[in-house]
Parts: sequence; C-alpha cells; structure tokens
Amino acid sequence: MPITVLVTGASSGIGRATALAFAEHGARVFGTSRHPRPAGDGVEMLELDVRSAESVRRCVERVGRIDVLVNNAGVMCEGFAEEVTPAQAQEVLEANFLGTVRVTNAVLPGMRARRAGRIVNVGSLAAWVGEPGEGFYAASKAALARYTEALRQEVWHLGIAVSLVEPGAFRTGVLAAAPAVESRIADYDGPRESAHHTLHRALRRGEDPGKVAELIRRIAASRSPRGRYGAGRGACWVPRLKTLLPQRLFEFALRRAYRLPR
Ligand SMILES: NC(=O)c1ccc[n+]([C@@H]2O[C@H](COP(=O)([O-])OP(=O)(O)OC[C@H]3O[C@@H](n4cnc5c(N)ncnc54)[C@H](OP(=O)(O)O)[C@@H]3O)[C@@H](O)[C@H]2O)c1
Repeated sequence: MPITVLVTGASSGIGRATALAFAEHGARVFGTSRHPRPAGDGVEMLELDVRSAESVRRCVERVGRIDVLVNNAGVMCEGFAEEVTPAQAQEVLEANFLGTVRVTNAVLPGMRARRAGRIVNVGSLAAWVGEPGEGFYAASKAALARYTEALRQEVWHLGIAVSLVEPGAFRTGVLAAAPAVESRIADYDGPRESAHHTLHRALRRGEDPGKVAELIRRIAASRSPRGRYGAGRGACWVPRLKTLLPQRLFEFALRRAYRLPR
C-alpha cells in the first residue's frame, strides 16, 4: 500500500517540488493551497489556511490516514522591526509557527494511534541569524526550530520521527508573496534599501527548490531521521560560523554582507 503524504503550501516553490517528488516515487500525495487548485501530476490539491483551526480540521479529516506530514506553508515578512506593525508580525507567526502547530496537533492523534509517522517541518537558515529586514520571519522560524526540537523528544517513544529542514536561499516566489510594509521611517531608508537588495539578490541567485524536495523525501524514507538538516549553500557553515566566531566578528561580517554602516 502506498504511503499517504500531506504537504502544506504545495501550490508553488519548495512545497510544490516536494509534493511532486513524493508523487514520482509512488506515494499518495495531498498538497494544499489557500485557494482552490486542480489536481495534477499525481497530487490532489485541498484548500487549507493554516491560520484557521476549522480549515485545518476539514483538511486533515478529508485526507484521513497520514503517514508523512510536511509542514511547509510559510510566508516571508520584509521590513525593519520598528516599521512592521504588531498585526503584521502576528500574521507571520500565525502562518509560520502556530500554523505548523495547528496542523501537527490535528495529525498527531492518528500517528499516535498507529505508533508510526514522520513529520518534517520546513524552517529556515534565518532562524540562526537575525538578519536586518527579516526580524519577524527569523523569529517565527527560530520558534519553529525550538518547538520541533521539543516535539521530537516528546513523540519519539511513540514511533513518530520529527525533523527540521532549514533551507538557505532557494529560487521561489516567497519574496514576491510577502506583504509590503505600510509605514516607513526615514532613518532606516539607506540600510533598508541595502538589506532589501542583499536579500533579493540572494534569492534570485538561489538554488533549485527540487534540492530541498529530494532531501525531504529522503528524510521521510529514512529508518532513523536526524533532528535537523541544513539544505543548500550556507545552511551548514552559517550555523557553524555563528558558534565559532567571536560575536563582534560575526556581526561585522553580517553588516558587511548587508552593506550596512559599520
Ligand atoms: N525560498 C527560500 O529561499 C526559503 C528559504 C528558507 C525557508 N523557506 C521556507 O520554505 C517554505 C516554502 O516557501 P517557498 O520559498 O517555497 O515560497 P512560496 O513559493 O511562496 O510557497 C509558500 C507556500 O505556502 C503557502 N501558504 C502561505 N500562507 C499560507 C497559509 N496561511 N496557509 C496555508 N498555506 C499558506 C502558499 O500557498 P497559497 O498562496 O497557494 O495559499 C505557498 O504554497 C516556507 O516555509 C519558507 O519560509 C524558503
């Protein structure tokens, strides 16, 4: 019997590539989007907004037994911290962190009953570094990382393996989908422009999302998946550098990379 996989946020980018990778390997795959989408390429599409408990309940009920859950749905938030409203910050946390918690909590009872399951949460390298202009995105992914670490330990004895994948920069539409900051503070104009330029260039030069998809598929197939995986350039050496380098040197390098005043 083929395994059943649910991939949230499968209308584009990493989620789409992941759903297709599982389908190509014979899995029964359900992908999701906030909007109605036709099925295709072996992926059945369901409507899901991870910010709504009711939407999550309906989606998970519709799929039934889920062997592998990939919590991929997420949004970017670009803006200097003081310029992002608390309501905008809350939206990011709702989608990237609490959304994952909602879907996971809806799927876990079935996995606990079967004493089996794989959960892969898509975090970000941003969780390691509070990069300028990405503070709330980084905060949401850092929250996700620590939550994933704790959950992994809590459900280990029930036969459920939870892993975190932290991609670096990949060519997707995540920045294009990010909401614009409403209020701008003139004091940040120069640094904001530099940070914006650096971030957009990194994603333009980013890697193929298929690389993350293949990693996620292999994690799900592994007999004993690790707790954390980096994906792509930088995903391994940035965390290492942050732990090894003296703080001031790391911050200097970050300001230099972002062409911020030193
Ligand atoms: N691209 C990168 O360089 C990169 C790096 C590190 C981590 N990531 C992470 O990778 C994941 C996928 O991002 P991506 O780069 O592939 O971007 P993307 O192409 O914009 O995909 C984001 C997906 O999330 C869905 N989504 C957004 N808000 C949602 C909500 N409230 N409820 C349900 N689904 C929602 C979108 O679906 P609809 O709009 O159709 O609803 C879309 O399918 C995200 O968690 C992102 O943070 C990306």
